[in-house]
Amino acid sequence: MTRDIKNHLLFEVATEVAHKVGGIYSVLKSKAPITVAEYKERYTLIGPLHDESAAIEVEELPVKDPKIKAALDQMSERGIRWLYGRWLIEGAPRVLLFDIWSAAYNLNDWKLDMWNIAGIPTPDHDQETNEAILLGYLVAWFLGELTYHDQERAVICHCHEWLAGVALPLCRKRRIDVSTVFTTHATLLGRYLCAGSTDFYNNLSNFDVDAEAGKRGIYHRYCIERSATHSADVFTTVSQITAYESEHLLKRKPDGVLPNGLNVVKFQAVHEFQNLHAIKKAKINEFVKGHFYGHYDFDLDNTLYFFIAGRYEFRNKGCDFFIESLARLNHRLKEAGSKMTVVAFIIMPGKTHSYTVETLKGQAVVKQLENTIGEVQKKVGERLFEYCARFPNTQHAPGSNEVPSIDELIKPADRVLLKRRIFALKRDGLPPIVTHNMADDNTDPILNQIRRVRLFNTPEDRVKIIFHPEFLNANNPILSLDYDEFVRGCHLGVFPSYYEPWGYTPAECTVMGVPSITTNLSGFGCYMEDLIENTNDYGIYIVDRRMKAVDESINQLCDFMFDFAQKTRRQRINQRNRTERLSDLLDWKRMGLEYIKARQLALKRSYPDKFKNGSNPFNNLEALKLTRPLSVPGSPRNKGLMTPGDLGSLQEAQESLNTEDYIGFRLGLGQNGDNEDEDGEDSGY
Ligand code: UDP
Ligand code: G6P
Ligand code: GLC
Repeated sequence: MTRDIKNHLLFEVATEVAHKVGGIYSVLKSKAPITVAEYKERYTLIGPLHDESAAIEVEELPVKDPKIKAALDQMSERGIRWLYGRWLIEGAPRVLLFDIWSAAYNLNDWKLDMWNIAGIPTPDHDQETNEAILLGYLVAWFLGELTYHDQERAVICHCHEWLAGVALPLCRKRRIDVSTVFTTHATLLGRYLCAGSTDFYNNLSNFDVDAEAGKRGIYHRYCIERSATHSADVFTTVSQITAYESEHLLKRKPDGVLPNGLNVVKFQAVHEFQNLHAIKKAKINEFVKGHFYGHYDFDLDNTLYFFIAGRYEFRNKGCDFFIESLARLNHRLKEAGSKMTVVAFIIMPGKTHSYTVETLKGQAVVKQLENTIGEVQKKVGERLFEYCARFPNTQHAPGSNEVPSIDELIKPADRVLLKRRIFALKRDGLPPIVTHNMADDNTDPILNQIRRVRLFNTPEDRVKIIFHPEFLNANNPILSLDYDEFVRGCHLGVFPSYYEPWGYTPAECTVMGVPSITTNLSGFGCYMEDLIENTNDYGIYIVDRRMKAVDESINQLCDFMFDFAQKTRRQRINQRNRTERLSDLLDWKRMGLEYIKARQLALKRSYPDKFKNGSNPFNNLEALKLTRPLSVPGSPRNKGLMTPGDLGSLQEAQESLNTEDYIGFRLGLGQNGDNEDEDGEDSGY
């Protein structure tokens, strides 16, 4: 069938549309502005409806497009509930959220169909798989209806991750006239194998994939992932390392890599991000004073905030490494007689009941002290005024024109009140490690390792630990900051992952000008290592977890943290400036090009006639080209020109479309030197 491919419709399908779980939410949300700029209303994100998050994140709208409306009306007639609207984020993309449970009456039939058409078995008890099937069948149903009602425009369906991949084999089997892209953000087997004690990277080519999936009870999920991989016109992943893994575990070499970008916001004043650091750090300071009440014997001016954050995957996210290296760091700082204190935060959502009484009490007693001091201060001010205003003073101190003594200003009643507040700060035990009551305190891997290395927040410890087993939120009663505010207030993000296809957390640090540590097993780490010489200078520390033994890698991590703790404030400020300058490398304005290529390749594979003899319907791409933002000069020295995502066949997409055209600059050209003075806070930037 001939369709208009230039004005094609784009649907991106994922389970994290308007529903935050992990990094895929960050991909979709941060990419929305450039995709909407390109597609306007021809772009719609599809996902399952989660009432709670949709109520906050989505504004319902009538469906304007008559063809999409016709397709949805058909589904409504069969009892399917959906919500169409605008995702309330920058770019405001259209979203279509299916209430997958309104289709539950079909579940058994659809599971049988999965078995019949693809030989994929689906056990009853696996809720996640059931949800993936419901979503996949609904998406395929919708696309089938849409391509029937709209026979003019081509349609691209881009699915993210196996959970949203079921539609792909269905589209192929039913010969629905859509072009498809599948992006995997991890492989199921990779995640499971790494979480155990397997030597994953050295054995990648040797795994008996079916048997390994079977042993872990995920054979059916693996089948879905593999069928999505093989049914898509174009298959991609988020990094070279995951591409290599996919080739071995999913048995298809990806057509290309679509690295994750960020929506980089440049401040008008270059140093605004440094000011924000100081403001947010002050908020963390408040929390720390409360948390360590009774043991607040360290100097906040000489305190550094380190943190690890992400989904609770103890080994994959390198939490085991982090805690062990903190213990070594503690030892080294003590030995060196360092005056620095490191407060290390672990932000990983675990199973909890509530905040602990101790945690809440800590914040309360400090608040009370602050209030009482406020009251006393006010009274002292009034008395001082009274005294001085009655010059020459005869009533209070006959014959004296001196300023009053402290005893005249702070009365016995005030002292009693202050003493009570100070006594309330006494505590028997040590400051707590964890802020919440854990559901499984005795078996929790993080707590157990902290116990093993004996980091108990004693006064002698130079490294203190706080485990906050819940994602951050400005509405939380303690540590009331959104995650990005918290990151800004910290000094160093530490993400020593073992399994990390991309790793948004260090990338987010970079664009906020916060140095971070990552590894050469993370997509982000490898990407930066490829682009920049001397990554340490730019505040991107990369631990070698490939070639070094475990103990050596932990020591390297400890060295990085120790060296960081030796820096002066001025050096930290300089380094933050350099880190922030790398933002351009991570901007969707640069990365988005790979998505364009993947979509074009999908269209080319579905409609080869339109691309015959080198012709290309997208030849006037001028309108798509976004130029580099007018901001500070880029400093990194790249090791050679490259297009971040190219792996092979994505190049087929558009020979004339390359990174340099798209972003309007070539890395490494026009760079300036790394003059410390120029970086400095007082440089007048
Ligand atoms: N994150 C968050 N709140 C927190 C900690 C983390 O929203 O308190 C987000 C963070 O901004 C990042 C995502 O969680 O975008 C984690 O993504 P990443 O790619 O690092 O890992 P994934 O969870 O996808 O494996
Ligand atoms: C920012 C602010 C400075 C402040 C500094 C603290 O750079 O602009 O005014 O002194 O942060 O840095 P530190 O690394 O000590 O938290
Ligand atoms: C996955 C990966 C993570 C990546 C994210 C977004 O959840 O675990 O490394 O950053 O997807 O691609």
